[in-house]
Amino acid sequence: MNSIKIGILGFGTVSQGTCELLIDNAELISKRINTNITIAKIFMRNPKKYEHIRLPDDTKVVSDAQDILQDPEISIVVELMGGTDFARECIEKALENGKNVVTANKDLMAEAGPYLLDLAERNHVDLRFEASVLGGIPIIRTLYESLGGNKITELVGIMNGTTNFILTKMTEEGTSYTETLKEAQSLGYAEADPTADVEGYDAARKLAILSSISFNRRIFFEDVEVEGISHIDTADIEFGKEFGYNIKLLGIAKETKKGLSLNVYPAFIPLTHPLASVRGSYNAIYVKGNGIDDAMFYGRGAGSLPTGSSVVSDIMEIAKNINFNSTGRLAPFYFEKKSIYAPGKISSSYYIRLVVENKTGVLAKVTTKLAEQRISVLSVLQRNDDPEKAVIAIVTSSCPRSYILNVLDAFNNLRVVKKVSSVIRIMGE
Ligand code: HSE
Repeated sequence: MNSIKIGILGFGTVSQGTCELLIDNAELISKRINTNITIAKIFMRNPKKYEHIRLPDDTKVVSDAQDILQDPEISIVVELMGGTDFARECIEKALENGKNVVTANKDLMAEAGPYLLDLAERNHVDLRFEASVLGGIPIIRTLYESLGGNKITELVGIMNGTTNFILTKMTEEGTSYTETLKEAQSLGYAEADPTADVEGYDAARKLAILSSISFNRRIFFEDVEVEGISHIDTADIEFGKEFGYNIKLLGIAKETKKGLSLNVYPAFIPLTHPLASVRGSYNAIYVKGNGIDDAMFYGRGAGSLPTGSSVVSDIMEIAKNINFNSTGRLAPFYFEKKSIYAPGKISSSYYIRLVVENKTGVLAKVTTKLAEQRISVLSVLQRNDDPEKAVIAIVTSSCPRSYILNVLDAFNNLRVVKKVSSVIRIMGE
């Protein structure tokens, strides 16, 4: 049986899950690829912290990453440190030294993925990054290998577990955003600084990577229009239920004849849509292709063992390539010129919640403003909990975003409208 030595950079949650799988499933893994995978070295910044964790006797803990990057016996470097600067330096060095690389580093792949893949190709080695997007859901290789014969037209996904956990709790238990965020933090789902998750940046980076592969256009984080969930109110969630919707933070990428549209925003989705039933910290992605029609991939988007599972699968793929002398084959990216569609032109149905004066003729004034902007109303709900004010929730038919921006201006100038409380997009069936 062949034998391959790997070196791991970092020993956080994902690294520990990766080691656990490599150790517990060693026999199965080696039989499947006819190769023993040995964890030769692990680089830890603070080895004392991990002294209690079981590691194989022949695994050496090192405090200098160069011990791995320069080791001629190590053929796969597994980067699980996170961060972009030092991780990038190490990956570049590993590739230049003729080592294959596995990484779970989403931020780095979103920033420099194509450059690093090119560097890998030039050095005839592999760079794999399945674990960088959606943790345990095998989506990257699925898009460029299993669905390689499709023209992919649309990706819609729940790509962030923290926000899905928060929105699910708010929906099912009626708790406020602030209260639920605190709970998510105490349970370890949300970070102490939750900005990247709750403001949609994490989902946007994932969407940029998946869209680059799916649509063959280099897509950066900056190309994605992002809106987070911090403004979502339980009042909207309650109205949404009455209209037959669930709220989710979605990453949506579409290719139309006019170009690509790339968005992350909270949206109401019909309860009948498969994504509506994705609860808690689970992730899912819905892919449309001209061969497969629709396919949905569902699972754990983060966590030690699920993300470790993707890392291990990449190590196994590379081991097979090493055995067959076929590392450094074509990278999954090739790029064409494609324009990005102006966000103002994207059409959607909208939910609008207004606080208005509670008197005769107010609804007529509101609907007149909508009609003036050629916006058709699908449904309206009203609450009169206060003698002075009424709350109106409106669902519009599909219209360009620019029409909605115009009508919001008109509402803000209408004396009977006290406040435009919320505007939320609605995804079609
Ligand atoms: N923080 C992410 C999430 C996981 O909540 O889904 C890592 O991308």
